[in-house]
Amino acid sequence: MTITFVGHGYVGLVTAATFADLGNKVWVIGHTFEKIENLKKGILPIYEPGLEEIVKKNVLAKRLFFTLDYDKAIPESEVVFIAVGTPPKTTGEADLSVVFEVAEKIGKHIDGYTIIATKSTVPVGTNKEVKKIIESVKSKNVEFDIASCPEFLREGQAISDTLNPDRVVFGIESKKASDTMTELHRPIGGKRVISNIETAEMIKYASNAFLATKISFANTIAKISELTGADGPSVLQAVGLDSRIGSAFLSAGGGYGGSCFPKDVKALIAIAKKHGYDFRLLREVEEVNNEAIHSIVDKAKDMLGNTLMRKTVCILGLAFKPDTDDIRDAPSLLVIKALQELGAEIKAYDPIAMENAKIILKNVTFSINAQEAIKDSDILILMTEWNEFKNLDFKKLKKDMRSPLILDARNIFDPKLIQDLGFVYKGVGR
Ligand SMILES: NC(=O)c1ccc[n+]([C@@H]2O[C@H](COP(=O)([O-])OP(=O)(O)OC[C@H]3O[C@@H](n4cnc5c(N)ncnc54)[C@H](O)[C@@H]3O)[C@@H](O)[C@H]2O)c1
Repeated sequence: MTITFVGHGYVGLVTAATFADLGNKVWVIGHTFEKIENLKKGILPIYEPGLEEIVKKNVLAKRLFFTLDYDKAIPESEVVFIAVGTPPKTTGEADLSVVFEVAEKIGKHIDGYTIIATKSTVPVGTNKEVKKIIESVKSKNVEFDIASCPEFLREGQAISDTLNPDRVVFGIESKKASDTMTELHRPIGGKRVISNIETAEMIKYASNAFLATKISFANTIAKISELTGADGPSVLQAVGLDSRIGSAFLSAGGGYGGSCFPKDVKALIAIAKKHGYDFRLLREVEEVNNEAIHSIVDKAKDMLGNTLMRKTVCILGLAFKPDTDDIRDAPSLLVIKALQELGAEIKAYDPIAMENAKIILKNVTFSINAQEAIKDSDILILMTEWNEFKNLDFKKLKKDMRSPLILDARNIFDPKLIQDLGFVYKGVGR
């Protein structure tokens, strides 16, 4: 099949490359000349493990093409996926301007039956708006269908998630569209959920909101465990063993972040409000998350004798989670800004995300490795659980640090081992 993706971010590029690898001819439309030229040469705008290889392989095999021109890609495509960003507005609602802008361009270029499928996370009703836009600009007699095809991949494991998702959701209006989408996804694993458009749109928000709720619940249990003397991680581990609950997303830490949970939680609160419902539960999930992030700053201050003035703080990990360069809404950014406001000097290291962080963070010393960042610091704060941080040489660190303080915002270190070496250790819920 010949298909197009508009947008080459974490969702667009990964799914486009995967569909090309499965034998389809895939166009990717971007809007920046330099990025498109780089992609043709195999230089990617994002980091995702394994992606560079599969992009290069499929460009070489002439299955994956990058362009700025809608007239090259759209007329020959049976399915066109919209995979552009839907960032939050100041009101919390999703900004749909790019979705609507590209829908208009797609509509102007379809010249035979085409399915326009939205992968971007969009509020209920958006795909019907997309339909109206396409209807108003397309040539007479050209038929089309819309589909809502929300994406559930996780950055860091996006390729395997695309090939083997838990489920593939199609919100669809016709049998013809259902048959084509089913055929295109035939080599892809996971259960099929075929629904109306509105249901598919809501499934995505409900899923992310539930995962965010699980994290905030875990952080609340961690907080109460700290107050009562229970061991939060042990409590949560045992709770997660219940098959009705499950252990995924039930870990305490320095709050959730990233490009999806914070914005999708806000958007669902805004969707509910627009329809006259106050989603109190989700407002509290957000509040608990903010507290979880700020509690890291409070703990650091406490460990340093109630002042951060001129203290050197080493931050290990900037990405919102391991194996990605994505720092959008990463808790590390909020923690660093708050520490700086309290007078701390920051040294930071992340294996992949430093280039993106340099654009946002000011007055931070970026180090070439973890050892360098830790050297001469007054406290080490672990913000992202990259594998390479799990086996630090603590004996050496103790000699290198000004004071032996470790704040583990992801609970990856063994407290006993560290305390036995003479460190003061704090985790979350421990
Ligand atoms: N990142 C994730 O893990 C993830 C997972 C599931 C769903 N989603 C959703 O998928 C959507 C895309 O997310 P993402 O992380 O890939 O975003 P991203 O910011 O990485 O990518 C957005 C892409 O849109 C392109 N774009 C912006 N304006 C454009 C325009 N005018 N014309 C053409 N292209 C344009 C950008 O160049 C970029 O390639 C969002 O709605 C997001 O919520 C993301």
